Amino acid sequence: MAKETTAKAMPMKKSGTVTLTDDATGKSWQFPVERGSVGPAVFDIRKLYNETGLFTYDPGYMSTASCESKITYIDGEEGILLYRGYPIEELAEKSTFPEVAYLLLNGELPKRGEFDDFNRMITRHTMIHEQLVQLFRGFRRDAHPMAVMVGVVGAMSAFYPSDNSSHDPTERLSHIHRLLAKVPTIAAMAYKYSVGQPFMYPRNDLSYAENFLHMVFAVPAEDYVVNPVLARALDDIFILHADHEQNASTSTVRLAGSSGANPFACIAAGIACLWGPAHGGANEAVVNMLREIGDKKRIPDFIRRAKDKDDPFRLMGFGHRVYKNFDPRAQVLRKRAHEVLDELGMHDEPLLQLAQELERIALEDEYFVERKLYPNVDFYSGIILRAMGFPTSMFTALFAVARTAGWVAQWHEMAGDPVQKIGRPRQLYTGAARRNYTGPDERS
Ligand code: SDX
Repeated sequence: MAKETTAKAMPMKKSGTVTLTDDATGKSWQFPVERGSVGPAVFDIRKLYNETGLFTYDPGYMSTASCESKITYIDGEEGILLYRGYPIEELAEKSTFPEVAYLLLNGELPKRGEFDDFNRMITRHTMIHEQLVQLFRGFRRDAHPMAVMVGVVGAMSAFYPSDNSSHDPTERLSHIHRLLAKVPTIAAMAYKYSVGQPFMYPRNDLSYAENFLHMVFAVPAEDYVVNPVLARALDDIFILHADHEQNASTSTVRLAGSSGANPFACIAAGIACLWGPAHGGANEAVVNMLREIGDKKRIPDFIRRAKDKDDPFRLMGFGHRVYKNFDPRAQVLRKRAHEVLDELGMHDEPLLQLAQELERIALEDEYFVERKLYPNVDFYSGIILRAMGFPTSMFTALFAVARTAGWVAQWHEMAGDPVQKIGRPRQLYTGAARRNYTGPDERS
């Protein structure tokens, strides 16, 4: 069989120039084009303002590469997602979340001994400081788990000071191990607190996904046996949500980290950003939307509303800034949804039927086809999580558990990047020009 050529990680290399011409003055400037290993090239505008006095204008960063990275590659047109070059479909099928966390962080799949060391390190850091436990008591019982996670993860920076994480990779790695280990414990505790049940300590004899199910669903009053099908499905969900290039929350972590802020504070900032319904909060919004639709007969009315510019309603779980094709993660999750619901004897789960009918109708509708709006990662994940017994309020918290693997890998890469500078965008100012102060009696 022909040897598969794999696109090895390659340093950025110069590849010609682009010329910018100011038609008003006839002046021209040249900027270098740089290529990576795969995907769009960039033209380097770091000297643009100094040479031209112009800023670029790109609200939402539709056409802006904020950094060089070797971690995750997305081809939105083809619906491709690679973690360190490995297709997400293969990793979901053959790997485990801890192994994927190692891959994202270190760039290569671990040899057995490397994995055992990494997994042992994570496992042995899963408990949180007993004083941190008191922090939960300060929240109302009905606090959203994401509010609790932002607070408690941020508070970890009070327990683990970070003097020179930006310069010391060993210090960075110890914080990274703590975050990978403790964020699931904090998420599980947020759930337990919200239902008034006692916190369940982590168990070192369980896998990452098994331990999370144990910490969420076990109670001290009886033994809890992890369903291996659910543990496998949860491990998949963690893998599929682990990283996604420079999305909003990852960019938040990088921007916070660029000032040298404490890594726990940076991850708390990422959790805060992920919470938004346009981002990680969409999985919760999808299930709420499906429950509001309630019946297939009401789908056309919601499709109409989604297309109505005067109606703020959008089809949750549909569309993506990068994917203009099926989100490959949604494809895997659609399959897993059937497997999990079958395993739980819920194959006729009304929400799944409704989701499939909604997907079918939307994908035949010119509005969605023309705008290349397809189901994204959030469209099916909530259905699986709900079937597994998680309340909708926990869906984004689970997304945060998984995305911590990507956030810490991207933070580590950013902190070790020799060209890294503090992120400081500029603006197009359209406010008042200089004017002098007037007293209250002089104002018209
Ligand atoms: C995640 O970036 C990432 O990688 C994120 C993520 C990750 O792993 O980190 O993949 C996770 O956040 C997935 C996305 C989850 N969000 C949702 O499902 C919320 C619903 N989706 C939309 O809000 C929207 O699609 C976004 C926010 C995801 C993307 O928005 P963009 O790229 O800014 O696109 P846009 O708003 O410019 O939309 C283009 C057009 C517009 O219509 P026109 O003005 O051209 O007529 O498509 C329309 C939009 O109105 N549109 C939708 C729609 N999404 C876009 N119309 C109805 N329903 C939708 N869901």
